Amino acid sequence: MVEYGMTIPETGPNAPTTADSVSGAPDATLTIRRPDVSDGAAMWRVARDSGSLDLNSSYAYLLLADHFADTCRIALMGDDVVGFVTGYRLPADPTRYFLWQVAVDERARGHRLAGRLIDAVIDDQPEVSSLVTTVTEDNTSSRRVFQRWAEQRGATLDEVTGFEAHHFPDGHEAEPLLVIDGIR
Ligand SMILES: CC(C)(COP(=O)(O)OP(=O)(O)OC[C@H]1O[C@@H](n2cnc3c(N)ncnc32)[C@H](O)[C@@H]1OP(=O)(O)O)[C@@H](O)C(=O)NCCC(=O)NCCS
Repeated sequence: MVEYGMTIPETGPNAPTTADSVSGAPDATLTIRRPDVSDGAAMWRVARDSGSLDLNSSYAYLLLADHFADTCRIALMGDDVVGFVTGYRLPADPTRYFLWQVAVDERARGHRLAGRLIDAVIDDQPEVSSLVTTVTEDNTSSRRVFQRWAEQRGATLDEVTGFEAHHFPDGHEAEPLLVIDGIR
């Protein structure tokens, strides 16, 4: 478990440039750890309230928290889940980590917590050498998270065709694929 005390520390690859405590909860300890099945409901709630994520079924978050715990992480402020990253290693190429969703609650945003979650899950998978994810054209904050994360890891970021609009049955917009290579 990674524990951050009262303020977000200034060391490490995702360090903020100024020391800033998490607003609204100055006494809360921020921690990042593997989820377990009892965290699935809170992950679903964070996804539901995120404003822009596709909300999967509650069952899917239980599966992720239970069966895919090694490749998912949650962030807690005190006892509250305020963020998560979900993903898995591609079955056909386990050196590639597919990041499915990353989300941070409104009250914990602005501290680059998403980058810390990604560091935490990647650093525990030494066999992984690249991260792939899909992001819609208009998701500026998410794109910024991946750009910055790639820069800080000294990695390259390329954008290629991912899931195209015609693949979806429900009018979903295209999801270009971001490929971040050389992350070690
Ligand atoms: C994407 C998300 C996880 C980032 O949360 P976070 O770690 O708290 O991110 P921060 O608020 O620290 O911002 C990260 C970067 O995005 C930038 N940013 C944030 N909101 C932005 C916006 N609306 N427009 C442009 N840039 C924005 C920040 O300035 C920061 O850039 P910097 O690193 O150059 O300073 C969070 O916004 C979220 O949960 N969004 C909804 C879910 C989602 O879209 N997930 C991604 C798809 S899977």
